[in-house]
Amino acid sequence: MAIYVVCDLENLEPWVRALKNVDSSVDIETIESVDDNSAVEFVMAWTYPHGMFEEYPDLKTISSMGAGVDHLLSDPRLPAGVNVVRIVDPMLSQDMYEYTLAVIMNRLRMLTHFHKNQQKGIWKRKRCLRMSEVSVGVMGTGVIGNFIATRLHNAGLTVSGWARSAGDRVPYKKYHGARQLDQFLAGTDILVNILPLTPATENILNKENLGKLPPGSWLINIGRGGHLAEEDLIDLLDSGHLDGANLDVFRKEPLPGGHPFWNHPKIYITPHIASLPYPASVAKQIIENYHRTLNNRPLLNQVDRTRGY
Ligand code: GLV
Repeated sequence: MAIYVVCDLENLEPWVRALKNVDSSVDIETIESVDDNSAVEFVMAWTYPHGMFEEYPDLKTISSMGAGVDHLLSDPRLPAGVNVVRIVDPMLSQDMYEYTLAVIMNRLRMLTHFHKNQQKGIWKRKRCLRMSEVSVGVMGTGVIGNFIATRLHNAGLTVSGWARSAGDRVPYKKYHGARQLDQFLAGTDILVNILPLTPATENILNKENLGKLPPGSWLINIGRGGHLAEEDLIDLLDSGHLDGANLDVFRKEPLPGGHPFWNHPKIYITPHIASLPYPASVAKQIIENYHRTLNNRPLLNQVDRTRGY
């Protein structure tokens, strides 16, 4: 028995080292190396060709190598009985929070604006925004979204959150369900999207919804590229309704050369780095789920395949 890996990472070494550090008795193999397909019971996966898991009759569990599982659940040929688990990691949440705080503070203190002026030799003062002058809306208050919203609230920002359902009590103002979405958007100057990508949330960042934000607002997308209707964003930026957008995720990654986002003056791109999985921090839960799979025990961080997260 082994953990079989399916992903497009050039260097698997840090993952192998981290998993071996937790349990040196577990073999870690790439799935291409398997001779007998019925030996594959536990897979750790990131990107892969849809349909490939049909080849493994005894596959029991697929562990995403990140928090998101949309790459797995969008596979129409994902075998029905296979369990899907995801990574829940405090380091990942902290990274996402730090990224969000950094881009919010950059927006408020206009650091990129002043840097552009510096490059042109321009000394021109402009009053910056204060934390108390903006309200941040976090769309998606699952494990990571709730962490971000709570931390931003603790940092002194006015924060609200929106999720599909009401959920637990939180220290920030919480909206839920389709009926409260408009109210949430109308009170949001900086929208942070961290929803899971499911058929229900695809294209949720479209003209209709983003148009409900107050004029001059800002978008931060750290969810998935599939949430964003790209042309709608460009229209709203060009019309001045939105003032700018920080985008870390894209429909196609890497973002293709020549894509209009590259040179748009109001779009700030980062290459899906808001958080990068840190093998040493997540290895323990993967090994634990591997053993639970072998012993038919309930898994950690199991995804509801119907709900999509
Ligand atoms: C990254 O996008 C992840 O899903 O962990």
